[in-house]
Amino acid sequence: MKLKDKVAIITGGSSGIGHALSIGFAKEGAKIVVAALHEEGCIEVVNEIKEMGGEAIPFALDVSDLGKQEEVLEATLNAFGKMDILINDAAYSRREKVLEVTPESWDRQMDVSLKALFFLSQSFSKQIIKQKSHGRIINIGSVAGVMDFHPVSIAYHAAKAGTIHVTRVMGADLAKYNITVNCISPGSTVSPMSKSQNKKYYDYMTQGIPEHRMAEPEEMVPPAVMFASDEAEYITGQTLFVEGGALAVYLGREEPDFEA
Ligand SMILES: NC(=O)c1ccc[n+]([C@@H]2O[C@H](COP(=O)([O-])OP(=O)(O)OC[C@H]3O[C@@H](n4cnc5c(N)ncnc54)[C@H](O)[C@@H]3O)[C@@H](O)[C@H]2O)c1
Repeated sequence: MKLKDKVAIITGGSSGIGHALSIGFAKEGAKIVVAALHEEGCIEVVNEIKEMGGEAIPFALDVSDLGKQEEVLEATLNAFGKMDILINDAAYSRREKVLEVTPESWDRQMDVSLKALFFLSQSFSKQIIKQKSHGRIINIGSVAGVMDFHPVSIAYHAAKAGTIHVTRVMGADLAKYNITVNCISPGSTVSPMSKSQNKKYYDYMTQGIPEHRMAEPEEMVPPAVMFASDEAEYITGQTLFVEGGALAVYLGREEPDFEA
């Protein structure tokens, strides 16, 4: 077990990639705080972990509520006495064209997907410093942070580009406190958020992927365990794209025959 007795807070831990990470980290011996929007979903995952013989607690919150962020850290300390790993997985996206975005929609996507990630990481880091221990922050980004997608979700794209950069800057600034910050940026992954159950959408999204399939959420677990493990002490500020080669295909795609 690579994460025995480590304590991991996983936002978005009740569904999709976050769910896979909650189960995968529990299998590696970590104690999990399943922190997501709806209590029922958190409890279901906690029960799943307990049935496997693991330890976990549920915590329902909107990550953009900074007061609730403090409460989830308190609940973690009350349950497990410390924290070691933070996975920022929760995000919110809305499909809208550039000319349709309202200030309210922009703010909501940024608040949930980027601002919450930053401030929860900041509070987590203060606790790691107080504990005089080592911390691991893993942000879930997206290929949307470096490429365009249609239909467009521009505020989400901006938040994911921000996630990749914030990872780099936090990684550099927090290294002196024994805190590493890394990012996993998935390509299209089977989950409720990706609407992968819609066959037309699935076929469209997988056209540009060499294996012609989306990722399974469980495929994000091994790289996340690697970033969280003791062996990864010297890796920080990095983004690993787990996208089946989609970016290479996208960037290296054949140019249509343009007339001079
Ligand atoms: N699925 C994909 O194709 C894909 C691709 C690239 C990146 N990602 C990223 O992976 C992460 C997870 O995506 P997913 O597809 O597994 O999503 P999902 O819809 O299956 O799950 C989202 C989770 O986030 C939680 N959540 C949403 N808003 C929240 C809020 N305000 N406060 C607290 N929790 C909140 C939900 O409760 C749920 O647990 C996101 O960061 C997403 O941007 C997903």
